[in-house]
Parts: sequence; structure tokens; C-alpha cells
Amino acid sequence: MTMSDTTPGVVARLRRTTVGRSVFRSPPKVTPRDRAAAHWASFFLHIYPVKMRRREIAFRYSWYLGVISTVLLGSLVASGIYLMFFYVPSPNQAYSNIQTIQTDVTFGQYIRNVHRWSAHLMVLAVAAHMARVFYRGAYKAPRQFNWVIGVTLLVLTLLMSFTGYLLPWDQLAFWAVTVGTEMAGYVPVVGESVKEMLLGGVLVSASTLLRFYVLHVVVLPTVIVVLLMVHLWRWRKDSMLDTDRPVVEGTAQPELEGSATDG
Ligand code: HEM
Repeated sequence: MTMSDTTPGVVARLRRTTVGRSVFRSPPKVTPRDRAAAHWASFFLHIYPVKMRRREIAFRYSWYLGVISTVLLGSLVASGIYLMFFYVPSPNQAYSNIQTIQTDVTFGQYIRNVHRWSAHLMVLAVAAHMARVFYRGAYKAPRQFNWVIGVTLLVLTLLMSFTGYLLPWDQLAFWAVTVGTEMAGYVPVVGESVKEMLLGGVLVSASTLLRFYVLHVVVLPTVIVVLLMVHLWRWRKDSMLDTDRPVVEGTAQPELEGSATDG
């Protein structure tokens, strides 16, 4: 059977051209083995298992809360990049830059609101996602490691909100960060050093603004994106390790007992 037998019209013709053949390397997908080969050959699909449980991608199992968190993260990155075009993290300019974004920049007020709302909703969505994982017992073997990555993602999400809060450089921002960093200072042993490291001194100042800005636009988003890639990869791979599969005599995997995807 040829490609044209399985793929309709225009797409099949495009795939047969020299350019098409250099882009799409997968063989015609006739048997399950062909489909698996296509999966492995694709850059975008190769991280996914070839098969996965239908139940795990059903709305009633996950309520798509992790997916919603991911979409909100995408919205934050896109709107954040737009805001960066008009914002300078210096005490002399930050506040007036925000005023300009609100009043003069094309779509400025709209994009700023998208950024703020996405941030609030992401905190809610991530917390709800964590509660869902707990309620379903989806933290149990073989998913313990993904739970730990998840907790780290939650902390990083909260830190994103905290660092973003200072950037408008208004009274609310200034005092909120003063209170937040003072609280960090009360942590036993390391508190004082953490506080000074965050502030870049003993008080909220130009150094604090610059540090929070770098954390907010470079460090935290990069760590979140990298960890999220691992999180999603583990989500799919862990689904293959489920003990619901029939276990062959003598090959039982005790460490997977008490698996969690029921319900
Ligand atoms: C930036 C924050 C996060 C994002 C974007 C995110 C994203 C996702 C996505 C898309 C999924 C698969 C679909 C779903 O379950 O809805 C997932 C699964 C999972 N997440 Fe998260 N997550 C985040 C934070 C967390 C947190 C805070 C926890 C728990 C402490 C967590 C634990 C898990 C676990 C254990 C799974 C596998 C669930 C299962 O297989 O049933 N994640 N995550």
C-alpha cells in the first residue's frame, strides 16, 4: 500500500515532493508498528509514549487543571515579552513606564491586564491541580518524583508572583516586598542572608528592583519551563508504568504497588 492510499489528496501530493520528503520522514501508517515508527521519527512526538491510557487524557480524570496551568504560563510568557518592550527596571523609570503602558502603548492596558489576570489564575489553577492530584491519589507510585517536581513548580509559581509584584514600583509594591523580605529574615539560621541576597542590601532599593526583575524575567521562567518539560514527560511515561496492566507471573514490580490512577 502506498502513501496516497492512506493520506488524502493535497497532503499526500505535498509529501511526495522533494521538500515534503525531506520534512516528513515517517513511513505510511498502515500497521500499529508503522504508527509507532512515525511517532519515534517525529521531533515533536518522540518524547511521548506510543500508547497511553485513554482515561488519563479524559476531562473527568484531570479536569485539565495541569493543562490550564500550562496555557496560563504560555499567556504569561507572551504578554510578559510584550511588556518588556516598554519597561526599564530602574527607580526613575519603572513607575512612569507602567503609566505609559496603561495610557499610551498600543494594547498596553489590555496586555497588562492579561498578564495580571493570567498570574492570579495560574496560582489558583496550580493549587487546584495539586488538590486534584492529591484527591485522586495520583502522587502514589510510580508518580512520586513528579509530585516532587510539582511542589517545586508551585513554589516557583508563587515566587514569580512575588517578584512581579515589585516591578510597578508603587507604594503597594514597595511595602509588600518590604513585608515579604522582612518575613524571610525571620527564617532560622539562613533568614538574614536570604533577605540581604534578595534585597541586594538592607532595604528595598534600586538593587532590589534589578534583582527581582532578573529573577522575574529570566531565572524563574527558565527554571519553570525546564522543570515543566520534565514534568510533562514524566506524566506521559509514568502512565505506561501503571500497575493496572496485567503483571506476568514472576515479574511483579513491588515498588509499583498501590498505584494511583483508580477513579
Ligand atoms: C507550573 C505548575 C504546573 C503545571 C504547568 C503542571 C502541568 C501538568 C500537566 C499538564 C499535567 C498532565 C495533565 C493533568 O494532570 O492535568 C500534570 C500532571 C501531574 N502534575 Fe502537574 N503541573 C504543575 C504543578 C504541579 C503541582 C504543584 C503538583 C503537586 C505537588 C503537580 C503534580 C502532578 C502529578 C503527580 C501529575 C501526574 C498526574 C496523573 O498522572 O494523574 N503538578 N501537571
